[in-house]
Amino acid sequence: MAGQANSRLTPQGVITRGTTGINRLRRSDRWLVHNEQVRTVLLGAVDPLVVDLGYGALPVTTLELAARLRTVRPDTRVVGLEIDPARVVEGRDGVSFARGGFELAGLRPVLVRAFNVLRQYPEDAVGTAWSTMQAALGPSGLIVDGTCDELGRRCAWIVLDADGPLSLTLAWDPFTTARPSDIAERLPKALIHRNVPGERIHGLLIAADRAWATAATHAPFGPRVRWRETLRLLGLADPRRRMRDCVLTVPWSSVAPQA
Ligand SMILES: C[S@@+](CC[C@H](N)C(=O)[O-])C[C@H]1O[C@@H](n2cnc3c(N)ncnc32)[C@H](O)[C@@H]1O
Repeated sequence: MAGQANSRLTPQGVITRGTTGINRLRRSDRWLVHNEQVRTVLLGAVDPLVVDLGYGALPVTTLELAARLRTVRPDTRVVGLEIDPARVVEGRDGVSFARGGFELAGLRPVLVRAFNVLRQYPEDAVGTAWSTMQAALGPSGLIVDGTCDELGRRCAWIVLDADGPLSLTLAWDPFTTARPSDIAERLPKALIHRNVPGERIHGLLIAADRAWATAATHAPFGPRVRWRETLRLLGLADPRRRMRDCVLTVPWSSVAPQA
């Protein structure tokens, strides 16, 4: 039946550690509900179906995602997919759970969130995982492939559409992160091995650290004000709304790995 997970499809991928935690993905959730492209896709969808792929040992981040996206569109339907059948739980709070992998169990979502899933795969598995998810997307669909630390203080995610990656976002807790390059160890799998001289992501982190150091003059006003000055020095847009997190979003072309 359309819109329901198809249990006869073979889930694509492998079972990995199920580490998760309450509110771990809050920075990405906050960004998603404010991001213009995500809002446009969600609000314009005939079927506002969202998949949280690889939710782990507990479904908490899926339930949180549903609650936050429903502030944008109250009838957002969220399905949590897990490749490990032992982690598939009963539905609750209007969210359903099923077994599935990168093929998305035959669903056609307009948004896929896959956080801390590809982190445990080899780098050369990323291309196939991305193209498998891209082929399953619904109209104008987007994918968020991200990584974060255990408590969700340092996060990074790539947004893709059916044609390819669009952007990289880095987001971190202003009060527990000393400098932008501290995010390096949490880069998504497509970039984490590329943080070496000659690669664009390495250049971006060096430039961000330099601008952050220059913006030290703003430190007495707090790390959020200092970060706004850093964005200005980097020539990057400063989100006009009040920000809890330090956030940096750049087009994929400015960080894409060299061939
Ligand atoms: C580290 S947990 C991440 C949990 C949650 N997304 C988070 O960030 O807190 C990774 C989960 O992804 C699942 N997983 C790995 N590959 C998958 C795939 N191809 N499709 C669906 N789930 C997958 C694993 O079984 C594991 O439960």
